Amino acid sequence: MEIVLSGIRSTGNLHLGNYYGAVRNFVKMQHDFKCFFFIADLHSLTTHPKPGDWMANVKQVLCEYLAAGIDPEIATVYIQSDIPEISELYLILNMLAYKGELERTTTFKDKAKQQPDNINAGLLTYPVLMAADIIIHKANKVPVGKDQEQHLEMARNFAGRFNNLFGVEYFPLPSAFNFGKDLIKIPGLDGTGKMGKSDGNGIYLSDDAKIVEKKVMRAVTDSGPAYKNQKMPEPIKNLFTILEVVSSADTIKYFHEKYNSCEIRYGDLKKQLAQDINKAVDPIRQKILEYSSNQDYLRKVLKMGQEKARESASKTLKEVRQIIGFREF
Ligand code: TRP
Repeated sequence: MEIVLSGIRSTGNLHLGNYYGAVRNFVKMQHDFKCFFFIADLHSLTTHPKPGDWMANVKQVLCEYLAAGIDPEIATVYIQSDIPEISELYLILNMLAYKGELERTTTFKDKAKQQPDNINAGLLTYPVLMAADIIIHKANKVPVGKDQEQHLEMARNFAGRFNNLFGVEYFPLPSAFNFGKDLIKIPGLDGTGKMGKSDGNGIYLSDDAKIVEKKVMRAVTDSGPAYKNQKMPEPIKNLFTILEVVSSADTIKYFHEKYNSCEIRYGDLKKQLAQDINKAVDPIRQKILEYSSNQDYLRKVLKMGQEKARESASKTLKEVRQIIGFREF
């Protein structure tokens, strides 16, 4: 069976974009592939979180994975730092990664701009750790968004270099994986681009109904279409894109007609949108709360995940050590 692997950094709650764009697909994949879904807590250290944040952040992603429907009996669900083999492979891969290519990575350049006082080596080697995450389980399919494609290309390069250097065909070369025909991209509420974690732009799975309503009502719009069948400007198109994900066919049709005939009232559209988002998210929200309060179960899930992940990771690392030529005296 082909191996699918993906991870989410534990830097805050998941938003609708993470859910519809990624996690909901993970849930579908778990039946067709051997899946590893993990929490990239070491990666989150590159932005220097405060001590004390770790537990809540990791727990949040774990509960959200489970609430979304990832079945830890089927998929392997684990915390990155629970698998020390990943860190060792990362160290080895660092010898195959060049300073120049790391410095040219788009995400590194962005982060260096965002946090000029903390351009740490972990930020620079972020793609190396990500490559280790992937190839430690010899995964070949990696469901990620567009923004991660460069990282994935680097993972392929590092894996390929390892194979070449040691004259083996050991690591498969991983590639981005889109499950289903069209990948849903959820736009943000601030008028441009995709949903992210910046203020007012994202709706979190854990937001309660009132907060969802408040955020949607504040979403950017304009003064309305000036003539019939006018092309939608981006902020309006974005609201319709979300509507198309969460609302019924009738509702979608209704608001399209209202827009096209210039009779639309954005207040009505937003009210309906907030209501439908809440309807879609509420069952997940409930489950997040249930899992959050079930510490025993979470502990069991992580123990099981750690065991399964370490079994696979230690096998790879043992073979890597043999390939490099480490010997026991
Ligand atoms: N870099 C990814 C992100 O920010 C998270 C991640 C870390 C990841 N390791 C991974 C994703 C391995 C896929 C595979 O979204």
